[in-house]
Amino acid sequence: MKKILLLGSGELGKEFVISAKRLGCYVVACDSYAGAPAMQVADECSVFSMLDEAALRAAIAQHQPDLIVPEIEAIRTEVLLEVEKEGFEVIPSARAANLTMNRDRIRDVAVGLGVRTAKFSYAESAEELMSQAKAIGFPVVIKPVMSSSGKGQSVAKTEADIQTSWDYACEGMRGDRRRVIVEEFIHFEFEITLLTIRQRNGNTVFCQPIGHVQERGDYQYSWQPQPMKPEYLKAAEQMAEKVTSDLGGAGLFGVEFFVTKDEVIFSELSPRPHDTGMVTLISQNLSEFDLHARAILGLPIPNIDTVEGASAVVLATKEGVSPTFTGVADAMSEPGTDVRIFGKPTTRPYRRMAVALAKGENALERARAAAKKITVVTQ
Ligand SMILES: Nc1ncnc2c1ncn2[C@@H]1O[C@H](COP(=O)(O)OP(=O)(O)OP(=O)(O)O)[C@@H](O)[C@H]1O
Ligand SMILES: [Mg+2]
Repeated sequence: MKKILLLGSGELGKEFVISAKRLGCYVVACDSYAGAPAMQVADECSVFSMLDEAALRAAIAQHQPDLIVPEIEAIRTEVLLEVEKEGFEVIPSARAANLTMNRDRIRDVAVGLGVRTAKFSYAESAEELMSQAKAIGFPVVIKPVMSSSGKGQSVAKTEADIQTSWDYACEGMRGDRRRVIVEEFIHFEFEITLLTIRQRNGNTVFCQPIGHVQERGDYQYSWQPQPMKPEYLKAAEQMAEKVTSDLGGAGLFGVEFFVTKDEVIFSELSPRPHDTGMVTLISQNLSEFDLHARAILGLPIPNIDTVEGASAVVLATKEGVSPTFTGVADAMSEPGTDVRIFGKPTTRPYRRMAVALAKGENALERARAAAKKITVVTQ
């Protein structure tokens, strides 16, 4: 039986724990607060900040896991690099966790591999941002190099927006580097997540592309399969294979692309299950969490069967504790529709609390309708 130390215990971690438990693993779920979703289904839990170097090192030393599985980006990844050298196994690799924690590092890797990205540059001050934005051409997208879920991200349409964008990025920054990436705004037709699985004993395999829509930097709904030209899908798969094989290790990656009329552009990737991939809880025979678990345990993935499916998020509207949900029965009343409630102990505006899932014809419409029926209620 493998012992897994899960770093981050959100809703993605929770589904991963369920998948890993079904395969007989022992899981210690870690996060900075008690009662996090994955802790509710794990064997043990541990509460500490994953950015706290000493605490992270102590947890690894205490639990002696066979596999360290990061669920979030905000981890003191230098510790992972060190413990990997000592013989601990990090999923998919300490290097992958380290590089993807910073947008500039993974972007530089992609460019080094000859992968097509949006035009971009970096800036460390408002003045530098202005000159880089002018060189790229407005509108531009500005993101802190260390942040996630759209924090600190904005679009500057003209020079007049640059100072506001710089200030907003500084507010949303994590870590100690005042650095932003400034990117050409891509007028994409749609964007996709290509779930890519590196196996221990087998080829890299891909799920059908997942289309999604983002607001405020967070995904709102996703669907699978996203129809696309076969040659564009092939191009995306080739780029995904290139980047993930450079990162190495075994596991599932969420590789994000923009698709325009003319081409496919690499955006970023997560070396772990992706939030837009929650649709696979209903659309595939093996969900992205099952696939991650199989890949890291070295178990075979002989087939991935897909039906049309969709997911739509249920968000909280205000701050509160001990949320309850109304409308769940109504949302679930239609055949082929399901709901996952994450069990987060507290709410805040726009916090993702649950997801509605649908499969079959018009799955997207039905998932969105189901999500709308659910209301998060707090005292
Ligand atoms: N250059 C761009 N042109 C157009 N839209 C963009 C661009 N960069 C980002 N976006 C939009 O913003 C969304 C979020 O950006 P991105 O994926 O880079 O960061 P993030 O979502 O904060 O990171 P994470 O996926 O780790 O949460 C994208 O999915 C896309 O909809
Ligand atoms: Mg993203």
